[in-house]
Amino acid sequence: MKKTLFILTLALLSLSAAAKEVQVSIVPRPEKVTLLKGEFKATGAPVNCDPAFNDTARKAVAAFASQLSMTSGRSSSYAATPGVERAVADGKGKGFYFLKDGSLGAEAYTIEVGKKALVVRASSHFGVLYAIQTLKQLLPPAIYGKTPKQAHWFIPCLSIQDAPRFGYRGMHLDCSRHFFSVAEVKRYLDIMAAYKMNRFHWHLTDDQGWRIEIKRFPLLTEIGSVRTGTQIGKDRNSNDGIPYGGFYTQDQIREVIAYAASLGIEIIPEIDLPGHMLGALAAYPELGCTGGPYEVWRRWGISPQVLCPGKETTFDFLEGVLAEVAELFPSEYIHIGGDECPKTEWQKCPECQALIAALGIKATEEFTAEQFLQNYVTARVQTFLAGKGKKIIGWDEILEGQLAPGATVMSWRGVDGGVKAANNGFDAIMTPTTYLYFDYYQSQDKEKSPLAIGGYLPLEKVYSFEPFEGIDASARKHILGVQANLWTEYIASNEYLEYMLLPRMFALAEIQWCTPENRDYDRFLGDVVNHQFQVLDNYGYNYCREILGDPSL
Ligand code: ACM
Ligand code: ZN
Repeated sequence: MKKTLFILTLALLSLSAAAKEVQVSIVPRPEKVTLLKGEFKATGAPVNCDPAFNDTARKAVAAFASQLSMTSGRSSSYAATPGVERAVADGKGKGFYFLKDGSLGAEAYTIEVGKKALVVRASSHFGVLYAIQTLKQLLPPAIYGKTPKQAHWFIPCLSIQDAPRFGYRGMHLDCSRHFFSVAEVKRYLDIMAAYKMNRFHWHLTDDQGWRIEIKRFPLLTEIGSVRTGTQIGKDRNSNDGIPYGGFYTQDQIREVIAYAASLGIEIIPEIDLPGHMLGALAAYPELGCTGGPYEVWRRWGISPQVLCPGKETTFDFLEGVLAEVAELFPSEYIHIGGDECPKTEWQKCPECQALIAALGIKATEEFTAEQFLQNYVTARVQTFLAGKGKKIIGWDEILEGQLAPGATVMSWRGVDGGVKAANNGFDAIMTPTTYLYFDYYQSQDKEKSPLAIGGYLPLEKVYSFEPFEGIDASARKHILGVQANLWTEYIASNEYLEYMLLPRMFALAEIQWCTPENRDYDRFLGDVVNHQFQVLDNYGYNYCREILGDPSL
């Protein structure tokens, strides 16, 4: 009887723990969460930071203390004094402690929540940043707000061990088709950071507008950043006749890079070449096969007008641009585009054909001479950037023909490019249209939804993506990570941008962070509906309510 009672009590205890666990709605789900009994009172708790952490970590911890003070309405003092770890070791600690622990991986962290002390351990500022995001999700959603709010300002006693599955956890944003201000880009970075993403792929140039100041080539922004109008809806022959432009100065770009770094995000700029270049060609028509005339494109689609690799001045131009880009961005990678480059002009251009002959390029059964010519462009740019200490990423078209070793392939036309790249020893990043193009509709009710590019990509489909599918076990190390892309042909406002991003970005975050064993769509959906939507409401982000039955903006 005693034994039965004991078992019954154990079962009840574990049931109540399980019931409680439902309330811990952390996205992306940490590797291991163990709930314990009791609660830690967060209001007014002092926040202690190990001074051994770097400036980025200390500033983030101080910002957490002031956010908690402001939203809870009671002051949590911040201090970074030597010896803070002693109070924890003696069991006398009270409040939050952020301790440096070199035994943890660079992006790992642990959180131990007791009734008196809440201890975070990490080896670097990355772990500190991610731990803070987890703590915010353990607190009432009011922590994301701007005003004091009455709420249950407690954190359940628990222990968390956490580290990401993938090192590359990206989001992309097209700022060419529509321009987003520095403040809007920072908001985008904020929400990425809240879900532990660490790479921002910034699409800065395209047919519809060149958006980055290049000092050597001032006409790129003077002429190339402005189009005289924009197509209306899906009608490619229509035009609103309203001039549209915008670009980032180099000072603004430095500001955004520093802001991103403070959130643990590296920015990877994309200069899309040799196609998608009408912004540049409008400014410098001599870089094209025909010499023009060109205009910054007023419509969406794939332009047949591209850079002419048959002219050596094209490489002078590219190297001049990329030298400034490499100087500006501290990232390990520069994205050089490479997608959707029609070869019709190259086929007719005497200079392109002369270069093909001079290089001894021969078509094969599989690839045209012009496809090999694009390899030549990619390889020259890759060599130039290697001289600046940079590696390249390109869209999966760069695999056509012969890709030089060391390039990283971004798989967008489904997963085939990534599978082929990884199985052939190239690093790859998975961004397939089929799961991760956030410009697709979120609802089948297209009538009620705002206009999108087409396609249908609901939350559950995003969540179901498994990046290792089709990859040989020995080649999995080449899958650096996962990213979703947000092209903005039909996205003209920040409000709509956030609607397209959220909540799909939550599903992306779990693909990037969680092991397959730790992913469960029903649990995730509960977390999104019961907690993450409140986070967004308090944070002030717009989102699509399709899963609540309303796809309208
Ligand atoms: C792409 O979507 N054109 C990379
Ligand atoms: Zn040419």
